[in-house]
Amino acid sequence: MADRTFYLTTPIYYVNARPHLGHAANAIMADAMCRYRRLRGDRVYLLTGTDEHGDNIAQTAAKAGVSPQAYADEISAAFRDTWRRLGITNDDFIRTTEPRHKAVVQAILQKLYDAGEIYFGEYGGWYCYGCERFYTEKEIVDGKCPDHQRPLSFIKEKNYFFKMSKYQGWLIKHLEDNPGFIQPARYRNEVLGFLREPLQDLSISRPKTRLQWGIPLPFDDQYVTYVWFDALINYISALGYPDGTLYKELWAAGHAEHLIGKDILKPHGVYWPTMLHAAGIPLYRRLNVHGYWTIGGGKMSKSIGNVVEAFQLTDKYGHDAFRYFLLREMTFGLDASFSEEAFVGRLNADLANDLGNLVSRATAMIVNFGGGHAPRPGAAIEEDRAVSAALGEAARAVDEAMEDFAFQRALAAIWEFLGVVNRYVDASAPWTLAKDPAKRDRLDTVLYTLAESLRVISILIDAFLPDAAAKIRTAVAGNAPRLADLRWGGLAPGAAVQKVSGLFPRVEAEKSPSPQGKEQGEGSAAPNARIPIDEFRKVELRVAEVLAGERVPKSKKLLKLTVKVGEEVRTIVAGIAEHYEPETLVGRKIVVVANLEPAKLMGIESNGMVLAASHEGSLALLSLEKDLPPGSKVS
Ligand code: MSP
Repeated sequence: MADRTFYLTTPIYYVNARPHLGHAANAIMADAMCRYRRLRGDRVYLLTGTDEHGDNIAQTAAKAGVSPQAYADEISAAFRDTWRRLGITNDDFIRTTEPRHKAVVQAILQKLYDAGEIYFGEYGGWYCYGCERFYTEKEIVDGKCPDHQRPLSFIKEKNYFFKMSKYQGWLIKHLEDNPGFIQPARYRNEVLGFLREPLQDLSISRPKTRLQWGIPLPFDDQYVTYVWFDALINYISALGYPDGTLYKELWAAGHAEHLIGKDILKPHGVYWPTMLHAAGIPLYRRLNVHGYWTIGGGKMSKSIGNVVEAFQLTDKYGHDAFRYFLLREMTFGLDASFSEEAFVGRLNADLANDLGNLVSRATAMIVNFGGGHAPRPGAAIEEDRAVSAALGEAARAVDEAMEDFAFQRALAAIWEFLGVVNRYVDASAPWTLAKDPAKRDRLDTVLYTLAESLRVISILIDAFLPDAAAKIRTAVAGNAPRLADLRWGGLAPGAAVQKVSGLFPRVEAEKSPSPQGKEQGEGSAAPNARIPIDEFRKVELRVAEVLAGERVPKSKKLLKLTVKVGEEVRTIVAGIAEHYEPETLVGRKIVVVANLEPAKLMGIESNGMVLAASHEGSLALLSLEKDLPPGSKVS
């Protein structure tokens, strides 16, 4: 990442619902990303805010018996307070009812109108009040909005239109020339998919006879601005477009990235770039799209009910645990399912056990055996060097993952490192060394390694678990965290270390009292829970034929395999190098998980996972009892 300036936006939240888990997840992702970039020393600016105009809000306010402005004031304040309590580090909070925003929307409308990009016409179409947009015949499912699953209304009226259709070819070319413009790639493909159908012009107004609650068009006061045309502009009105310094330094200089949920892909991936292009304004750099949090498989949006107040759970389990769960459990771009049981599973296994226990054990040993100071280390042996090497790997993997907003990968890499340190404690057994004065030198090295591990862990987790990171830092002589200080050996011998206990207390689940320890394996939230067959059916297992294999340079564990699955040839990186020579695998039929999201391992994109059984350090690849062609389904 060469770019050292980073302007990130969240969507602006509709004020017709109080903040809930889905909104909070979105804001937390943005916050974690910005905190990480600040740790890198980058100049960061995070914008969030509220979207306050439109039919929906006018109707909700009317139902509540208050004016739209009073309603918007109350909910907007609830978002601001909620974000403050969640520790979201936004630099600004924009409201679309603010004069600074309205002025920019009107200036851009006027500019487009003067340039002949807006015309007056008539249009009839199927409209969803929930989404505040028309749906094309192709998009409608069973006569309903695919998102809200509510019937659509047929609306025919005279309106102003933006000549969006004329930018169809230009947008396709832009997406083709800039493959990273929308990520993950599935969403870029989805936008290219929309663009295979003829693009319509965009109705950008609503007659005042139908809706008063909006920004009046500067060239016709009988109309107000359509909510999306109004809302999208927040990303530049907040920066003082066109003359503001922030606008020039953050937007015009090409540093803007948006973070959105998949439901608002079309406005951000189609309307917004064409609006900007038509107005002669530079485009954003990248659109990052996350999936949906569901509860029991159903969408949790304000319109569908099943709303979860973000704070019920943060107050119950703490902000850090809540952030961790949301960031760790969602594969960026895909949907994730929320349950309190899974949350408690992660909390106990990853936070209480892997992290909390390590911190309390390590600090207690440094205090008890090292007198509360990080000793001067003696000569490092291989076990010590393995810890420092693992740090380097983790830091690299985190950086790579964060480039893609892949929070789950970043956290998995950090937890790999925690695993290495936890195993190091067990293997080096400082409590035994402490009994033998002749082993003092070795004990000092081990205690230093532990203190230094805690110091770097506090930096690694800072963007994700800011409160826990600060507590560790306070106990282990830490300075303001910077990624630059992730170099091994940064802790000065003699530095004071205090005991830390109860960083993440275990939670005994009310429903399933069985302890969920780390021995039950990384990667599953509630490892003992039985799953319905449909969950298992999501995993596509196939027979693959190994065409070629080689060791991954600088890795002890990884092999790069070229395999054939049906007619498709793909690369899979497998952690089996300690058990198999690559040449011996060529021609073998193995079993792979074929529908995994791609993952980058040591810079190589892996598309799938090889299945193997393991027991006490021995590992065996799954193979077929009878020959079947590659691509055969395994079930
Ligand atoms: N006001 C528009 C955005 C305008 S941006 C110029 C809007 N607001 S919203 O309040 O409905 O949604 C705000 C964000 O929250 C969206 O990114 C949406 O995807 C996200 N989420 C709302 N519910 C969600 C989940 N259940 N899960 C994940 N994100 C969710 O759309």
